[in-house]
Amino acid sequence: MTDSIVYLVGAGPGDPELMTLKGMRLVRQAEAVVYDRLVSDEILAEIPKDAARIYVGKQGGTHSIPQAEINALLVDLAGQYSNVVRLKGGDPFVFGRGAEEAMALVAAGVEVEVVPGITAATGIMSGIGLPLTHRGVANGVRFVTAQCGKNVPLELNWDSLADPATTLVVYMGLAKLPEISSKLIAAGMPADQPSLAISQGTTDRERICRTSLKDLPKLVKDKALEPPVLIVIGQVANLSEDLGITLD
Ligand SMILES: C[S@@+](CC[C@H](N)C(=O)[O-])C[C@H]1O[C@@H](n2cnc3c(N)ncnc32)[C@H](O)[C@@H]1O
Repeated sequence: MTDSIVYLVGAGPGDPELMTLKGMRLVRQAEAVVYDRLVSDEILAEIPKDAARIYVGKQGGTHSIPQAEINALLVDLAGQYSNVVRLKGGDPFVFGRGAEEAMALVAAGVEVEVVPGITAATGIMSGIGLPLTHRGVANGVRFVTAQCGKNVPLELNWDSLADPATTLVVYMGLAKLPEISSKLIAAGMPADQPSLAISQGTTDRERICRTSLKDLPKLVKDKALEPPVLIVIGQVANLSEDLGITLD
């Protein structure tokens, strides 16, 4: 074990004020910060001027740095600095590959601490003013990802996901939205199940599409929603009027 520590810090869903006080304190004290695409400029502005700052997000909009290289980089930085922050959008352990990084660090004998963040699902929905669960409307919520790996077909358990009484949140679902919609309907989810697609949630660029599950892919395409986009399928999307929210 080295004397170094690597903090895996959740930066929250977009709005910089939705990051934890602990996460922000660690960013301000960091000697080196490794960050990706979903971390806001306002949070990056808090990195000390003399700290090393390393971007490992998508390069040129498409190509991502392989996860093994990021893991090796973190181990390497822990050998050079006593205090390293790995900043990730949302929560580091929700579809963020944070545990893979933690495992690589642990295997290399580096101390790791995970600092939770508000994940996109809870941050965006509560930020809009809509619940993910509501008595008599949605008695549960499921988070799934539509990203299964490069060139790997989307294989989700559609029968179990097609439950109209459970809110379904799909991360990384934009590219596969037509398939998600048609497979859920084929598995028995009502075609008119209320659905949302939220682009750049909790930021001042936030855009929301609301329609039926069947029509969501076309609306999202027509409105040219930009990533990141979160898909939320469930009756909770229809509670806006009772909650005094204007969505459309
Ligand atoms: C690689 S995952 C990271 C999730 C992150 N660890 C979290 O807990 O929110 C990225 C996906 O999260 C969702 N996402 C994250 N931030 C978002 C935002 N501000 N607006 C909409 N979707 C967002 C999108 O589905 C995006 O494709």
